[in-house]
Amino acid sequence: MVSHENDVSAREHSRRVRAMFGKIAGRYDLLNHLLSGYTDTRWRKHVVRKLGQELSKDGARALDVACGTGDLALRLATSTTAFVIGTDFCRPMLEIAARKSESSEAGTIPFVEADALNLPFIDSSFDAVTIAFGLRNLSNFESGLKELFRVLKPGGRAAILEFSTPVVPGFRSLFKFYFSTVLPRVGGFISGSRAAYEYLPDSVSRFPDQKRLAAMMKAAGFGEVEYQNLTGGVAAIHVGTRISQDALGHA
Ligand SMILES: C[S@@+](CC[C@H](N)C(=O)[O-])C[C@H]1O[C@@H](n2cnc3c(N)ncnc32)[C@H](O)[C@@H]1O
Repeated sequence: MVSHENDVSAREHSRRVRAMFGKIAGRYDLLNHLLSGYTDTRWRKHVVRKLGQELSKDGARALDVACGTGDLALRLATSTTAFVIGTDFCRPMLEIAARKSESSEAGTIPFVEADALNLPFIDSSFDAVTIAFGLRNLSNFESGLKELFRVLKPGGRAAILEFSTPVVPGFRSLFKFYFSTVLPRVGGFISGSRAAYEYLPDSVSRFPDQKRLAAMMKAAGFGEVEYQNLTGGVAAIHVGTRISQDALGHA
């Protein structure tokens, strides 16, 4: 009974999130850049750097989960030689991603409509997996982490870019004010959906902080878990490796 109720609420959560991103898709990029002063672009570059080793392997394959309008997938494809696939469950976001990739030097990236909690790839498919500002939106963070782990090859690495908890107290209060007061007004005005930009600080406040997310990654099976704070902890990149059994000496 409880499990059925959980299923229903997870489906309802997904339906709402998908509808919300569908509504703001056309203004998503503009607002991202505007509200972050282009910091979001810098943060995505850090993700690519963190996975440099995996992405530069011969024939490397990378998956960007919850890719939205494709900025990280495009960055991965233009800055590395890896074959990149993007997935998201919101078609309007994917359509924008596909248009951007057609007119980019990256060449056409396959953008696949898929739920991050049930990815259409067999186990151990990718050398690198990324998710930027996506994990927070899932109905179940633990299941999302396990799914990222499942599709990684042994030895492969995942990078999670997400809003986090600012580490300097004064800055934390200032940022909280901006995030929960200014951002919903500006975002709501420009996107036409105040609810979407109220959901943003709300979902961030429910998301685990840096240490807790690192612990959740370890519980999902990742090894060599570490994180780097960005812009004083406004965001953080967590990386983790699917340690191969050989490396553990269990061959
Ligand atoms: C804040 S946007 C981030 C988009 C992009 N990664 C970026 O860096 O701008 C969150 C994205 O997660 C997607 N998303 C949320 N839940 C998802 C799920 N369960 N499966 C697939 N995509 C999901 C949304 O459709 C949306 O495009």
